[in-house]
Amino acid sequence: MTHLNRLLALLKKKPKTWLTLFGLLMPAVGFGQDASASSATSDSPELLLYTAMALVVIVAVLVLVVALYTLTIIKVIIRKEKVSERADQGLTYEEGPSFWTRFNQKMTDAVPLEKEDAVLLDHNYDGIRELDNHLPPWWKYMFYLSIVFAVVYLLAYHVFDTLPLQEEEYQNELAVASEEAEARKLLAVNELDENSVETTTVEAELANGKNIFEKSCAVCHAADGGGGVGPNLTDVYWLHGGSINDLFKTIKYGVPQKGMIAWQATLKPTDIRDVASYILTMQGTTPASPKEPQGDPYEPGAAGQESGN
Ligand code: HEC
Repeated sequence: MTHLNRLLALLKKKPKTWLTLFGLLMPAVGFGQDASASSATSDSPELLLYTAMALVVIVAVLVLVVALYTLTIIKVIIRKEKVSERADQGLTYEEGPSFWTRFNQKMTDAVPLEKEDAVLLDHNYDGIRELDNHLPPWWKYMFYLSIVFAVVYLLAYHVFDTLPLQEEEYQNELAVASEEAEARKLLAVNELDENSVETTTVEAELANGKNIFEKSCAVCHAADGGGGVGPNLTDVYWLHGGSINDLFKTIKYGVPQKGMIAWQATLKPTDIRDVASYILTMQGTTPASPKEPQGDPYEPGAAGQESGN
């Protein structure tokens, strides 16, 4: 009985040996599982999940290394066995071609140099001879694969239209981009405040501002901005500053103790911008019955004009 057979017989008789091997590997795997199980209850489950995943990967790699190492050892044992077997018969052991050599031969189907005579063709062009080699199988397989790919491609893109062509892909990307732009705009609108506001000159938005002014503000400021309960909005005198930012702030927060309502609960930020912009278009107009100036004159562009409110 050879050593290898003895080893195999031993393993068959004593499965405990295998169990011990598995037993050594198992705690590592169990550790990985524990880590991923506890992650759900943690404060930062994501971090723990990644840690757990990393551990599992590490454990997997370790198991693989151990398995490969074991395989190598078994191979060495088998080889030793074979060598000694041959020696018993008075022969020397010759190793067969490696996996890579066999694979290479199979893929190229090359005729060895010393056997080239068998495939040498008859003709001779000024000393140039031709070998009747087969097509290399690797090339043939690629060729077949390209045919299969072409069929799949044709069906998917041109017959059943399941996948988008370049033109459609481009359109899809445009659609996604415009959706994103829309979302960005919405975000910008919601974040619109007295610091970021800018005077609008868009006609529809000014019309919206006029509409709001006549509906909600004209009672106190007069439809032409000449003033009433509230101050004249057509002159350059302002109690709370005359920049778009000042107006936005006054309209948004109001001056409750003086009878000017805070409009932030009623008007959207864009509405406040629109009505403030509309008020600025009334600058310099002559209302029917203007109220006397109140506050300080505001000069557009001059710094430090904002008076306290
Ligand atoms: C109930 C009456 C009333 C209504 C309605 C009203 N306001 Fe006023 N508003 C006032 C009063 C009063 C003041 C002066 C506050 C002060 O003396 O500080 C004022 C001040 C202002 C000012 C600041 C003027 C300055 O000189 O700095 C602006 C701008 C203004 N209002 C815009 C509006 C807009 C826009 C609306 C409609 C959305 C509106 N108001 C609706 C009563 C009103």
